[in-house]
Amino acid sequence: MRFRFKPPKMERIKQQVDTIVRFLQPNLPFVNCHMVDYLTEQHWKRFVPVAMQCELRTVSDYLQAKDIFWGQFEPSFDGEERNGGCFPAVREFIKNTRQFRLGGAEARGTALTLDEFMDALSDCRRETRLKMTELMNVKKCHEVEVAAAVVASLCNGMAATQPDTSLEDILVIDAGDGKGYLSSRIALEHGIKVLGVDCNEENTSNAEKRRERLKTKIPKAVQKSNLEEDEHFTNLLQQGSLDTLYRTATQLIDFNTNLIKLAQEYFPGGHHSTFCLCGLHTCGNLGPNCLRLFHENPTIKGICNVGCCYHLMQEQFVVDEFYNPTKVSDNPGYGFPMSKYLQGKSFHLGRNARNLAAESIERACTNRENPSDKLGYRALLQVVLLECGEKKSHQVGRLKCDGFVDYVRRSVRRLGLEQRVTITDDSLQELEERFSAELEQLKVFYLIRQQFAPVVETLILLDRLLYLRECGHDRSFLVQLFEPVVSPRCYALIALK
Ligand SMILES: C[S@@+](CC[C@H](N)C(=O)[O-])C[C@H]1O[C@@H](n2cnc3c(N)ncnc32)[C@H](O)[C@@H]1O
Repeated sequence: MRFRFKPPKMERIKQQVDTIVRFLQPNLPFVNCHMVDYLTEQHWKRFVPVAMQCELRTVSDYLQAKDIFWGQFEPSFDGEERNGGCFPAVREFIKNTRQFRLGGAEARGTALTLDEFMDALSDCRRETRLKMTELMNVKKCHEVEVAAAVVASLCNGMAATQPDTSLEDILVIDAGDGKGYLSSRIALEHGIKVLGVDCNEENTSNAEKRRERLKTKIPKAVQKSNLEEDEHFTNLLQQGSLDTLYRTATQLIDFNTNLIKLAQEYFPGGHHSTFCLCGLHTCGNLGPNCLRLFHENPTIKGICNVGCCYHLMQEQFVVDEFYNPTKVSDNPGYGFPMSKYLQGKSFHLGRNARNLAAESIERACTNRENPSDKLGYRALLQVVLLECGEKKSHQVGRLKCDGFVDYVRRSVRRLGLEQRVTITDDSLQELEERFSAELEQLKVFYLIRQQFAPVVETLILLDRLLYLRECGHDRSFLVQLFEPVVSPRCYALIALK
């Protein structure tokens, strides 16, 4: 297959990694701080750049600042800045942090757009033609339509380059298949065999149930899409062959899993010679382990992997505060750093930084999402706990509540501290009143910190790309598959051998 795109030079990826590390390193204490300690440890004074502190002093300033953050993706943002808009330090901070994310000035040219990637695949390109939105929400529908076409295009490309190989000889393995949204679509629309693998038995069972329901929806979808004359769909409808194309397995995938043996077990007599490993929102270490399996298996010729839940991965150079060794067996191995280059620097991010990397600024800004009141309630509860002499750090977790007083009562009950925290409702209300400005300030603080989210994610993705390049896979790419507002984890690592 001719691939009409020159991947960025390895030196350039390393330079970008260096630049981001230099930017992130001094900000890591900020990125990793706990919102719980916001009031008791004076986060605003400790972490917010002085120029911004000087600009933002009143509740009215905080409200206006939130508007600036939310408007950062609007075309008027840069114009207002040039015209001397208010709060220049806030605008400068936003502009500066945005340079260090994919597509920003300091990380430009590394990620391809979907169009660039599909154009580069030239004649191997496959499109989504089937109009079939059933049994999926809007987000999943968007992801599936794009990712299925990309995976099918890769398989097409692989078939074109391997001697004596047709699409029939290729088998896709979908790691972390879930309910089989992507895998069933690859099989159904593109006629490629897929094995969906998930460690959760219930998910496998649901994927199978969904496959049965899907079959009943095919005729209408084919008709709606004017594909009745298409040979593949005619055969599919006549033979009802979705079961032979899409199968499921329950198996935990780690860096040692023999996926090829598993595929042979589920597709006996298939004689598949070439495999494509895909994964949509492979949480925690599953994403990194898929990249390792791609590298180590000579017959896995292509990979398309979108990660998620970075907080669930284990880092090599830091032990998480909430580290739970029993959980590690779910997903063994280190997920970060993957590249020898970053390993050589013993670089670590930290749990809160990885948590942050999974947040979506684009979505938050488009929806003008106000950070939850509960963040402030928890920070204020910390004030109460310290006043009551509670030194231990407590994890309250998610809870439903109706205002601050209710929040405190429920949390105290959950923590079993009723005997120690005896503060009255009136005193709690007085406390909330007294801290009302700080609670509004906390929301701005949250948005300031959230600016680092795409920067941390960029570093995680560049590290994975660099790993593939270090392993000698020159045709490795980062591609923006999805619209970030619809699907925040929108970048895929794609590689071909
Ligand atoms: C975020 S969900 C994505 C599901 C599906 N790909 C989708 O996009 O709808 C991640 C899935 O990966 C599965 N999973 C996580 N770690 C795994 C592992 N190590 N091996 C196999 N499956 C895993 C989970 O059970 C879950 O179904």
